[in-house]
Amino acid sequence: MRRPDPHSYYDSTQPKTRRLRLKLGVDFAEKRIDGEAILEFGRPGSGSLDLDTKGLEIRSVHVPGQGPIPWELGEADPILGNRLRIQLPPDAQEVAIAYRTAPDAMALQWLEPEQTEGKVAPYLFSQCQQIHARTMVPCQDTPTVRVSYQAEVTVPDGLTAVMSAGPTGDERTRDGRRVFRFAMPQPIPSYLLALAVGRLESRDLSPRARVWAEPETVEAAAWEFAGVEDMILKAEGLFGPYPWDRYDMLVLPPSFPYGGMENPRMTFLTPTLLAGDRSLVDVVAHELAHSWTGNLVTNAGMEHFWLNEGFTVWAERRILRILHGEDAAALGWATGQKALEESLARFKDQPQLTVLRMHLDGVDPDDAFSSIPYEKGARLVAALEREVGEERFLRFLREYMDAFRFTSITTEQFCTFAAAKLPGALEAVDARAYLDRPGMPATAPEFRSVQLDTLTVLAESWKDGGRPSLHQIASWKPSELLVYLQKLPRDLSVADCAWLDEHFHLMGRGNHEILVEWLTLAAAADYEPAFSKIREVLTRVGRMKYLRPLYGALGRHARTRTLAREIFAAASPGYHGLSRRVVQSVLEAYAA
Ligand code: BES
Ligand code: ZN
Repeated sequence: MRRPDPHSYYDSTQPKTRRLRLKLGVDFAEKRIDGEAILEFGRPGSGSLDLDTKGLEIRSVHVPGQGPIPWELGEADPILGNRLRIQLPPDAQEVAIAYRTAPDAMALQWLEPEQTEGKVAPYLFSQCQQIHARTMVPCQDTPTVRVSYQAEVTVPDGLTAVMSAGPTGDERTRDGRRVFRFAMPQPIPSYLLALAVGRLESRDLSPRARVWAEPETVEAAAWEFAGVEDMILKAEGLFGPYPWDRYDMLVLPPSFPYGGMENPRMTFLTPTLLAGDRSLVDVVAHELAHSWTGNLVTNAGMEHFWLNEGFTVWAERRILRILHGEDAAALGWATGQKALEESLARFKDQPQLTVLRMHLDGVDPDDAFSSIPYEKGARLVAALEREVGEERFLRFLREYMDAFRFTSITTEQFCTFAAAKLPGALEAVDARAYLDRPGMPATAPEFRSVQLDTLTVLAESWKDGGRPSLHQIASWKPSELLVYLQKLPRDLSVADCAWLDEHFHLMGRGNHEILVEWLTLAAAADYEPAFSKIREVLTRVGRMKYLRPLYGALGRHARTRTLAREIFAAASPGYHGLSRRVVQSVLEAYAA
């Protein structure tokens, strides 16, 4: 196949980039990056080279030491962007492209000082997964190509740059700016390229782990994630030595559209994880687990996304089980089940998006995103584990990671490997039903515990007057309360909401999973006392996982629909482009 990835112009018969050298000038006034990208090839190449770009202004293309060479920018495809076709001279080793990013580049969010914690300096962060790297750097923007990189990032004085790479030094420039240098020696897919610039400080958490944040939140972040070294050790116990040298984390401003992003050596995290009680560190376990499942062994494209996320969710809950026990893991699976059911309902008219092995020619990866590759994928992994036994499965996983380390693979490659190493297991769990058929197989594993059953029975008895006892109210951990709220009926009355708020003090919760689950119930009940909190959360937080259900629940009543439109009009300039798109689609589905 000349073009193995439907989301990239990459042509496998052409030279393949092996190394990237970047010079990036960050211009906050213009909201643009002035860039030079030098793409080094694995071996000398000639003729056409097709690269992915989207919204980039190409200024020149040349072979270093030789001068300009011909290039041509194709028409804009709404999903793929513009193909940049370069004509390489014979035996070119590398090609240099000078370019500028567009102010609305999807990979980049430029924040005004008011959108940060300190409110005194602007902030920039990138989010390249799935296919937004091409709005930041011209490249072969497909995980089938892996590159090592080095970068030089020039930023205004007083600001700090971090990347998904190791720092190799920084200095003042003659014009009073600051240049930060980075190196990522291991080969990574383009979606793991990452940059953030802001007023940043760091705290060491262990000899190989550190957390970065704005000075105002760095202490809180250091406290919340203090247990990270322990997590790394537990993960190493499962998967073998940590392969990326350092594990640093960056806590971003609240508009960051995801909970976490596994950028190697620098996981990006939403500040909504700073609950004040370490109750949301499962997201760190997840991003850390990607160091093996995703970053070391990578999906060959979005059609195989479950290989990244399904394995990582399984790994996250495995780490959770070691750290906090069987019950805690069962609660994690229960929360996942809820997310899975919601995604299956959302895609009920697009069953082709509920299979694990997806077919996405012509489909925007961001539109195909859901909890299905995560939770259906994790259930397939768990089914295989149950089939062959825990020990044998772990041994298999280690072999899998050894065999495919630093490569990007397809579902078919995984199946071939699993069939060879675990003969009969795929058939025994009916893997085809997960991979190729919509919905959930009837034989999917279930995860139960006494505690989970208690919470379920109690929540289901709500309509018959069942209420938690004062002892339960006082003793539930955040994860128990969350599962209880998730299992309550969706059509509570105003009086029901008042009871819940009075007994659980929900409005003031620092755990955003609980807060947003509660506000979603309250929004659906047209519960006016929650409106100002809903407005506050929707204005401050850009995490899509929260925006979708909350705006969705506001669609239930005429009064809350008006509220939602009003909040969106005021808040959307502060949202990330991805978040804005998601909310728009939710609002468009409202009744008139
Ligand atoms: N890699 C994902 C985030 C992502 C997925 C970004 C697809 C862009 C496109 C990350 O590892 C993730 O899954 N984050 C979750 C956390 C979780 C499941 C614990 C999130 O953001 O909520
Ligand atoms: Zn993930």
